[in-house]
Amino acid sequence: MTVLDRLLRARRLRAQQREPDLPQAARAVAIIMDGNGRWARRRGLPVAAGHRAGTAALRRTVEAAPDLGIRSLCVYAFSTENWTRPDDEVSDLMDLFAETIRGQFEDLHRQGVRIRFFGRRDRASDSLRAQMAGIEERTAANERLDLWVAFDYGGRAEIVEACREIVRSGVTAEGVDAALIRQSLAAPDLPDPDLVIRTSGEQRLSNFLLWQSAYAEYVFTTTLWPDFGADALRDALAEYARRRRRFGGR
Ligand code: FPP
Repeated sequence: MTVLDRLLRARRLRAQQREPDLPQAARAVAIIMDGNGRWARRRGLPVAAGHRAGTAALRRTVEAAPDLGIRSLCVYAFSTENWTRPDDEVSDLMDLFAETIRGQFEDLHRQGVRIRFFGRRDRASDSLRAQMAGIEERTAANERLDLWVAFDYGGRAEIVEACREIVRSGVTAEGVDAALIRQSLAAPDLPDPDLVIRTSGEQRLSNFLLWQSAYAEYVFTTTLWPDFGADALRDALAEYARRRRRFGGR
């Protein structure tokens, strides 16, 4: 091999290393995890079994995310409307969140995942609230992936609360702009999602990240959430990579 060949080969290798696996990587991804109930019904299982399988899917997805170029992953765990579900389902879900924080989230902590919750906390039990604060504190220095968990969250309620905070601050009408509203949302550090994925075939937003998703790309998959994982995430990212984002321009 000549010197020139060596130089060209080195350049090619460097270029390959720089090239991400996907031509356009989604750094911030948000997921509407839907279909736990249907997954369970199809198997003749109680809905709680679907939610439990959903926690396993969450773990698989979180563990796959960093190697696919994702820096921030935001999941819709419990909406402001989910309180209207039957009491036993709500109670099972609260128990499952507590169990997940104690078990899986501690494992994710050891893998360098930083975990934060956003949404209302005043309707959660004292012990669940303490667990949320505890895992947030313990994972605060982690840098491998940011996991944001929307809990007792609704996009409209979030915007209403932001407006109230702005009015209370006494700012003039002219002082209100998009940056101030953004800063007043439930999680000011949460990046706007590049990509929002919804599982289970439903094609709606269901009050999730209304402000933050203004320019997001959407991928809807018929996979039920408990069946989701690394392969389905990769497929959604590949679909995203084929899109051209214009942000309103040409
Ligand atoms: C939707 O399924 C899912 C939820 C209501 C959210 C609960 C999510 C999990 C338990 C996954 C793990 C999350 C954490 C934070 C541990 P559905 O019951 O609405 O499904 P259906 O539309 O088929 O009835």
